[in-house]
Amino acid sequence: MDEIEWKHKPVESGYHAWLSYNKALPGAQLEQYRQWGGAIVSLEEQETIQAAAAELKLGLEAMLGHSVSAAPNQGQLHIALGTFDSLHVRYQSLFSEKEIEAAEAEGFVIRTSHADSCLAIGAASPAGVLYGVFHLLRLIGTGAAIDELAIISAPVNGLRMINHWDNFDGSIERGYAGNSFLYKNNRFTEDQERLRDYARMMASVGINAIAINNVNVHQEETLFITPTYLPQVAKLADIFRVYGIRLYLSINFASPIQIGGLETADPLELDVQGWWNNKASEIYAAIPDFGGFLVKADSENRPGPFTYGRDHAEGANMLAEALLPHGGIVIWRCFVYNCKQDWRDRKTDRARAAYDHFKPLDGRFNDNVVLQIKNGPLDFQVREPVSPLFGALEHTNQLIEFQITQEYTGQQRHLCYLVPQWKEILEFNTYAEGEKAPVKRVVDGSLWGNRINGMAAVTNVGEDWNWSGHLLAQANLYGYGRLAWNPDLTAEQIASEWIQLVFSLDAAIHDVISGLLMDSWSIYESYTAPLGIGWMVNPNHHYGPNVDGYEYSPWGTYHFADHKGIGVDRTVQTGTGYSAQYMGANAEVYNSLEHCPDELLLFFHHVPYTHVLHSGKTVIQHIYDNHFEGVERAAQLLSAWSSLQGRIKEELYSQVEERLREQARHAEEWRDQINTYFWRKSGIEDKHHRKIY
Ligand code: GCU
Repeated sequence: MDEIEWKHKPVESGYHAWLSYNKALPGAQLEQYRQWGGAIVSLEEQETIQAAAAELKLGLEAMLGHSVSAAPNQGQLHIALGTFDSLHVRYQSLFSEKEIEAAEAEGFVIRTSHADSCLAIGAASPAGVLYGVFHLLRLIGTGAAIDELAIISAPVNGLRMINHWDNFDGSIERGYAGNSFLYKNNRFTEDQERLRDYARMMASVGINAIAINNVNVHQEETLFITPTYLPQVAKLADIFRVYGIRLYLSINFASPIQIGGLETADPLELDVQGWWNNKASEIYAAIPDFGGFLVKADSENRPGPFTYGRDHAEGANMLAEALLPHGGIVIWRCFVYNCKQDWRDRKTDRARAAYDHFKPLDGRFNDNVVLQIKNGPLDFQVREPVSPLFGALEHTNQLIEFQITQEYTGQQRHLCYLVPQWKEILEFNTYAEGEKAPVKRVVDGSLWGNRINGMAAVTNVGEDWNWSGHLLAQANLYGYGRLAWNPDLTAEQIASEWIQLVFSLDAAIHDVISGLLMDSWSIYESYTAPLGIGWMVNPNHHYGPNVDGYEYSPWGTYHFADHKGIGVDRTVQTGTGYSAQYMGANAEVYNSLEHCPDELLLFFHHVPYTHVLHSGKTVIQHIYDNHFEGVERAAQLLSAWSSLQGRIKEELYSQVEERLREQARHAEEWRDQINTYFWRKSGIEDKHHRKIY
């Protein structure tokens, strides 16, 4: 088996993340681990299985502090891993038909068989074996017993995808963890070790698809599908393949013009179709398991089918035809809107755009097209409702798109554990099929039996040693993968796993960090975005408070605050009618001033500052109080973290302390800017007559 070289990148930086394989502490389980973990049996040459065996050896040796042999003595307890077929040759009756069936194509079974002296990890596919190995390592890393295991686990979502917004020049759109580790100065990175570590990390949480370039495809990246760069893309695909990951590319819809010498990119033109067909063949010759194309079209100045008077089904299907013979898919984004909006026009509503464009196209997309829908109707704000497209597209494959990178949620300078937000979204009832139609069932394909389904997310990684800039933001990356595998895990469970794998099994340490993570979303929301009003950020880079700053929000198009009131009227009677895009009770609740939940009140309604919330407070008082409380709570994050000094590794401690210090200070700036702005607008003082600057 191929050894993984355990090179010490600045190891205390957090580089090894949840694959740190910290030494297991003496205790009840250690004996068990040592007994089972002294030898590994792995009989297959297949590269993914070899990688799984190498990972198991690495993890066991690091955690148990002993060397692991590849050949158990007669009767010695050991761990065996492999596909069901190969394990069956040596251990005839280990797995039942039922278990094998339940593990499906990508899942695994782990069972201890004392009769065979064996703890076996079996799966139908090599990737399943790899996932099983990572699961066992996770059990050991979190201190679980392994003596009587009978686990069957299969991923709930078919596609578990990461989107990189990395540019070939090395920058990353909305990247907050340094530059890209995929590219530098228009070259592919040569740091194979880092790429492999990244693939290991992604596979360990079940990621099976990665799009390697920004959805805004610039001139240089347009060339990724040409002989100039295809060989290097293929090398990256080779690394990913070992870890069960298929590579995808974002493409430029105007490629036939930009690199093909054609005069048009009209999807109904035969020349254009032929060009894409040839292109697909060329790509698959280089990368036989190429996943497919990710496309952002007709949005934020990207080219698309609208230029030719075609709709998005025509655009997507043309690409799908080209990929079909090779087994590829088209992932077509629904983030389609016109950036410019006249502030005097209170009827045009960007929130409506995705639904208005795509609902009429339901049923028109080819079978190998999947729509990628952002979780909310706008753009990854700290609080917005769930996109009404979920539940509205019965005859269309669909993925949900999350943003792990914290563009609007603190840019990895502020702590914002997003898993609770994602959970809330996944549990949201769409009413598409009565009471039992949560988003997670739309997304995993089970509600309507969609063939392609799952989750995609814009990643938060860069070349910072800890991958994510803010060490605690790693929990979002970890959590995304775990949720994509199993959306029923709780945010607390996921946080616990991550904390134990990275820091320690010590309960007191765990509780402090878990408390920080679990409170962080609500804290960030409270000093930034009140009652569903978002966007109050500086233009372009979107960091820091600026009530009218957002570049597409001249004159407050996204909050409509004036001296009388605040909020965007999206009701049917007097507003943009957006609330009617929801089904059943959702449409009624959101449309009703009385029933709309406080947290989304200003997203759906324009109200006077003196409007009384369900909480009993007026809107303006809520804004004041929440911002003051948010600042206090941000300061508490720092003091809670300080209690860990000397109890966790200094390098991990200090990098987080620095970020939390910045957050506490910056939260004050948020409070002062937001409160002052609305105080001036409304002319109403808060009841404590607090001094606001
Ligand atoms: C946001 C983000 C852009 C990004 C876009 C997208 O608007 O600010 O940088 O390109 O989303 O999702 O395509």
